[in-house]
Amino acid sequence: MCVETKPRFLLFVLLLLFVSHRTCFSIVGDTLLVGQSLSASDTLISQNGTFELGFFQPGASLSIYLGIWYKNSADKTIVWVANRESPANDPASSTLELSDDGFLVLLTNFTETVWSTFTWEFSARASSVPNTSKAEAVLLDDGNFVVRDGSNPATIYWQSFDYPTDTWLPGGKLGINKHTGQVQRLISWKNSEDPAPGMFSVGIDPNGSSQLFIEWNRSHRYWSSGDWNGEIFALAPEMRLNNISTFSHVSNENESYFTYSVNNTSYLSRFVIDVSGRMQQLYWLEYQWSWYLSSSQPRDQAGVYGLCGAFGVFNENSSSYCECLKGFKPLVQNDWSSGCVRKSPLQCQNKRSVGKEDGFLKISNLTLPANSKTYQKESAERCRLDCLEICSCVAYAYNNNSGCSLWEGDLINLQQHSEVADDRAGAEIYIRLAASEPELQIGNGSTGTGNIKRTVRTTLAVAIPTTLITFGLFMYFRCLRKGKLIHRGNEYTGHDLLLFDFDTDPSSTNKESSSVDKRKNMELPLFSYESVSVATGQFSDKLGEGGFGPVYKGKLSKGLEIAVKRLSERSGQGLEEFRNETILIAKLQHRNLVRLLGSCIERDEKMLIYEYMPNKSLDFFLFDANRGQILDWGTRIRIIEGIAQGLLYLHRYSRLRIIHRDLKPSNILLDSEMNPKISDFGMARIFRGNETQANTNRIAGTYGYMSPEYAMEGLFSIKSDVFSFGVLVLEIVSGRKNTSFYHSDSLNLLGHAWKLWNSNKALDLMDPSLGDPPSTATLLRYINIGLLCVQESPADRPTMSDVISMIVNEHVALPEPRQPAFVAGRNVAEQRPLMSSSGVPSVNSMTITAIDGR
Ligand SMILES: *[C@@H]1O[C@H](CO)[C@@H](O)[C@H](O)[C@H]1NC(C)=O
Ligand SMILES: *[C@@H]1O[C@H](CO)[C@@H](O)[C@H](O)[C@H]1NC(C)=O
Ligand SMILES: *[C@@H]1O[C@H](CO)[C@@H](O)[C@H](O)[C@H]1NC(C)=O
Ligand SMILES: *[C@@H]1O[C@H](CO)[C@@H](O)[C@H](O)[C@H]1NC(C)=O
Ligand SMILES: *[C@@H]1O[C@H](CO)[C@@H](O)[C@H](O)[C@H]1NC(C)=O
Ligand SMILES: *[C@@H]1O[C@H](CO)[C@@H](O)[C@H](O)[C@H]1NC(C)=O
Ligand SMILES: *[C@@H]1O[C@H](CO)[C@@H](O)[C@H](O)[C@H]1NC(C)=O
Ligand SMILES: *[C@@H]1O[C@H](CO)[C@@H](O)[C@H](O)[C@H]1NC(C)=O
Ligand SMILES: *[C@@H]1O[C@H](CO)[C@@H](O)[C@H](O)[C@H]1NC(C)=O
Ligand SMILES: *[C@@H]1O[C@H](CO)[C@@H](O)[C@H](O)[C@H]1NC(C)=O
Ligand SMILES: *[C@@H]1O[C@H](CO)[C@@H](O)[C@H](O)[C@H]1NC(C)=O
Ligand SMILES: *[C@@H]1O[C@H](CO)[C@@H](O)[C@H](O)[C@H]1NC(C)=O
Repeated sequence: MCVETKPRFLLFVLLLLFVSHRTCFSIVGDTLLVGQSLSASDTLISQNGTFELGFFQPGASLSIYLGIWYKNSADKTIVWVANRESPANDPASSTLELSDDGFLVLLTNFTETVWSTFTWEFSARASSVPNTSKAEAVLLDDGNFVVRDGSNPATIYWQSFDYPTDTWLPGGKLGINKHTGQVQRLISWKNSEDPAPGMFSVGIDPNGSSQLFIEWNRSHRYWSSGDWNGEIFALAPEMRLNNISTFSHVSNENESYFTYSVNNTSYLSRFVIDVSGRMQQLYWLEYQWSWYLSSSQPRDQAGVYGLCGAFGVFNENSSSYCECLKGFKPLVQNDWSSGCVRKSPLQCQNKRSVGKEDGFLKISNLTLPANSKTYQKESAERCRLDCLEICSCVAYAYNNNSGCSLWEGDLINLQQHSEVADDRAGAEIYIRLAASEPELQIGNGSTGTGNIKRTVRTTLAVAIPTTLITFGLFMYFRCLRKGKLIHRGNEYTGHDLLLFDFDTDPSSTNKESSSVDKRKNMELPLFSYESVSVATGQFSDKLGEGGFGPVYKGKLSKGLEIAVKRLSERSGQGLEEFRNETILIAKLQHRNLVRLLGSCIERDEKMLIYEYMPNKSLDFFLFDANRGQILDWGTRIRIIEGIAQGLLYLHRYSRLRIIHRDLKPSNILLDSEMNPKISDFGMARIFRGNETQANTNRIAGTYGYMSPEYAMEGLFSIKSDVFSFGVLVLEIVSGRKNTSFYHSDSLNLLGHAWKLWNSNKALDLMDPSLGDPPSTATLLRYINIGLLCVQESPADRPTMSDVISMIVNEHVALPEPRQPAFVAGRNVAEQRPLMSSSGVPSVNSMTITAIDGR
């Protein structure tokens, strides 16, 4: 106890000393000197401008953290957090200071210490150094924040590289100090808005072998790199990243650690253990715009242990990967590490008073958790009774071979399989629920009055808010019609588009990074109808007609060209909702996505303003014999990679997790250097209100690019985008449209490709107008990847991060594809008609009829 209070007291005295003569400099540059303080509005910037240190608030969180991020990344990529466990909450009074004893202190309310680098060892060392008043805290170009002796920079008192958060930067260490036992390991954030330590961590083997491990809850090991042999990790050779990263393992009597370096200065690189439990290796090429994924460990998401927490179920096909077991609900929204809790408490402890026993709900196709007690029992019924008897028993399973298994405590690492993929799956488990739990009644098939009541309640619950919303919207539109939008004090007043100063040139963001900050902090601008009309010459220059409405070209006073998408009037969405959606979508920024610059909401019009792409879209080049030659093999491969990275961002790295649903060549735009940019992403969100009101042709996807489960049953998931991506890959390689095969033996390009693949003539698929590719092996690999993506079953298709691993790791063998969907010549029109998810037939039946005609 005494030992606890003493340093705090000392700290307090010291703080009083220097707080009292604190001077208020504004900090510029990379250095914080003794007596200076960094306030919430100041930042330190490393000498060459790569890193920035300051205060930030993650997402919508109100908590304030001190962190380091890449100065030029549009969506503040945080690489280090000082006070991840102890946030401050008042920006006005939070400061970082360097005490005259040479330690860093983070204060809130000017005097309360939230975080500091003070330790006794450090204090003892510092007192042996005569001139601590010369201490300085410097943010170095490699992202290391060091406190050092200003007159002798080699003397380092403290450095952030010794205390990594979730990111491993080149030059940083992952290791263990053999004397003190202190480890440097990466620990994931708790969730995307909370940097507190989460469940997943990466570190070196404490026993001293040269392996990296990923663990769940600092204990259960679910991935190992294999031993480092001086060149590669035995089980993860792809981590070398084409020889750009050079690892070294150091082991001596004091410590054992890994570090790595990147030789080529055009690359930035980082490893991060993210909230999904995978270690991602990313790189950033100089003067490009976004992070590229080069490998993920474990290679697939199902390899992560306990992703969904206690009583959570991992389901690769669910849009958020995790769901709760029936009868359970998430403990904390959007934070699966906290798992799920019962909706209704069990009655076991007091069953006498209540007079009701708990029941069991059967769940199929679940991978069973490991920590069961298993013993022989003569029947499933005996097994059930045993579980019922023990109040702590939460589930049982019965199997004729292995007998009765009982589980106590939390159920961890449940995985749902839509198909029996291996022998572990296909199992049935019975989950204990309170007798009053409605799921149980449905599960047992005993439909009682409870269900009817619920239906009535649900109807009311939907009807009342709907009426209110309709009324609200009605009032809203009335205001709008009067030509004035009185919304929160004129927030919706439009800017003049013509005079607006966009900072659109991506390459300039690296040079003048202040403009990035400007854009980041700026709300998505809203323009007046009048100015949009003038900029587009009264909507005279039509670029094309999309499913959501026509697209016009426009030009601003400064010469910047824009594209204006004028949405069909009936998007089924309220104005505020529309505005909110567009603001969200504008925050998605990636080199391979078309940028949304602003919007216009006026006179019943909704318009989206995008950057203009001079080179039209991929289909303009790809399916034309002459123009097709402009896309040489190198360009085509670059386009495939770019689309994959853009799609991965939509699926994984943006906060929104967007499923595109209509990926096809005409939605891949090309910039002046033929870099692909995905367009129309987020449209599914904007039009989700009432899909039938939007042009169903467009929203329901386009025949030829739709996965079977989407086309037939209206089911979509990230795997339906993967399917469309696979079709794109095959089209890019062959230069032919998927649906251009009416008069050949194959139903479509997929069938054609599959035939060639099976007769070992896959190379015949390649576009004949282009001549030989630089490497036939590479081309074959892309065809293989394309075929894997269009497999019939969504579960067989890789995820986009798998696809990227396959593209990057040229030496890892690929799986053999199974037969693609729509190949067997079966007649699509004989199946149920093309449905949108709302169950309304699509107007695209023309295409279907054409196939019917065969
Ligand atoms: C800040 O300190 C003052 C005086 O010590 C105290 O009255 C106030 O409640 C503190 N505010 C917060 C947010 O802790
Ligand atoms: C400490 O700093 C003082 C004043 O700057 C200087 O005179 C003295 O030589 C320094 N001592 C050492 C050991 O560097
Ligand atoms: C800044 O320095 C770091 C580390 O030395 C280097 O990796 C990076 O390429 C440099 N960036 C610029 C813009 O010079
Ligand atoms: C580390 O050493 C301990 C004790 O020798 C052993 O029980 C454990 O299995 C070792 N762990 C690994 C990963 O080798
Ligand atoms: C994680 O481990 C700690 C002890 O190491 C334990 O108390 C805690 O319950 C574990 N968390 C879960 C979710 O199992
Ligand atoms: C990486 O280096 C190893 C040996 O150092 C070499 O065998 C391999 O071909 C190199 N790979 C690439 C892609 O350069
Ligand atoms: C290990 O630590 C001791 C004491 O700090 C030091 O003398 C020795 O040089 C260190 N050994 C290595 C290999 O760094
Ligand atoms: C990268 O640099 C390291 C050490 O600086 C060197 O050992 C390695 O051979 C270099 N790799 C390449 C591909 O140049
Ligand atoms: C670094 O990488 C870039 C992009 O791949 C390449 O153009 C350049 O030649 C490389 N530089 C060196 C020194 O290897
Ligand atoms: C379980 O797997 C079987 C066999 O593949 C399948 O028919 C069934 O629909 C699956 N059940 C669920 C609930 O996913
Ligand atoms: C739009 O966003 C604001 C602020 O985030 C929120 O308060 C409001 O409820 C949202 N409105 C709708 C209709 O989603
Ligand atoms: C969608 O729009 C149609 C046609 O306007 C209308 O009949 C239908 O009720 C709407 N559906 C919903 C769920 O709002």
